[in-house]
Amino acid sequence: MEKIQQLKERFDAFMKGVDFQRSPEGLYEPVAYTVLQSGKRLRPMLCLLACDMFGGEYHEAKYPALALETAHNFTLIHDDIMDQAPIRRGKETVYKKWNTNQAILSGDAALVMAYDFATRTHRPVEVLTLLNQVLLEICEGQQMDMEFETRKEVSIPEYLEMIRLKTAVLLATSLQIGAVVADADEADQHRLYDFGIGIGMAFQLQDDILDCYSDVAVFGKVTGGDIVENKKTLMYLKALELASPAQRERLSELFSGDVTINPQKKIDEVIAIYDDLHVKEEVEKLMAEYYRQAYAALDAVSLPEERKTHLRGYADMLSGRNK
Ligand code: IPE
Ligand code: IPE
Ligand code: MG
Ligand code: MG
Ligand code: MG
Repeated sequence: MEKIQQLKERFDAFMKGVDFQRSPEGLYEPVAYTVLQSGKRLRPMLCLLACDMFGGEYHEAKYPALALETAHNFTLIHDDIMDQAPIRRGKETVYKKWNTNQAILSGDAALVMAYDFATRTHRPVEVLTLLNQVLLEICEGQQMDMEFETRKEVSIPEYLEMIRLKTAVLLATSLQIGAVVADADEADQHRLYDFGIGIGMAFQLQDDILDCYSDVAVFGKVTGGDIVENKKTLMYLKALELASPAQRERLSELFSGDVTINPQKKIDEVIAIYDDLHVKEEVEKLMAEYYRQAYAALDAVSLPEERKTHLRGYADMLSGRNK
């Protein structure tokens, strides 16, 4: 996938030339620290690939792509405070390295910078409108995610709606923005958006699996963080569904926030239950279904198949990720 590699390198070089490091240092250093880390650049890549697919100009997409990556990093800076996560991309999170107040303010600054970047294209109003809409949806999803931590009962449809909002819509909008700046017609923009929802849902399911099973050295995040934070992920909800009465009672107790238990012991006990019930395989089945839906939406885009190869290849790569 030479094209994908080239595009990533071109975008990385562009990002390196952007001035994130302004004054006062205390405000901008955490922004530069975060955005210049080794993120996968998924959202900008989707935007650039979508633009390219419709024959659009790279230069029309690069700033909107940067806006998406900067906005994404804003959500991460604040998400790590909310999730009390100490490590991201193998490095200390902003609120740990500096402090919570600085992380709040630097996150705010990153968001405003993202808005500024979003307008540097020939369709500024459309791009900004889409960015506004998606960021509000992410806030809605993040609020639900937090509320679920302390709620006893969360249904699978509620969980799926929460991850659609906190994660899938940004992937979908990244693709749509790429299509917009390439002047693709609205029907195709929406097909591409649906493709993004499919891969986005699968992406978050995979993130939830990796949170349990990956190694911090590879994944870059602390293993078991979701378990410690009582996140009602699909891993947990499927486990409840498949559990014996005794296992169900224990899981509910462990995720209630009412038990005092050593975090590592809790992680080990929960993962042992997940393993026993083959929960990972259940979640993978749903991931495959979302991929199927995603590819059906991509199939419907009114372009010859050969124009879709790169985006399809990129999505294939994503499905096999381990970080
Ligand atoms: C992390 O996103 C947040 C989720 C939606 C799971 P990524 O996994 O895309 O994070 P980076 O930017 O590559 O680090
Ligand atoms: C990601 O959810 C959602 C957003 C950051 C908006 P997670 O909380 O699962 O993401 P990670 O695992 O911290 O990257
Ligand atoms: Mg979170
Ligand atoms: Mg998190
Ligand atoms: Mg996660």
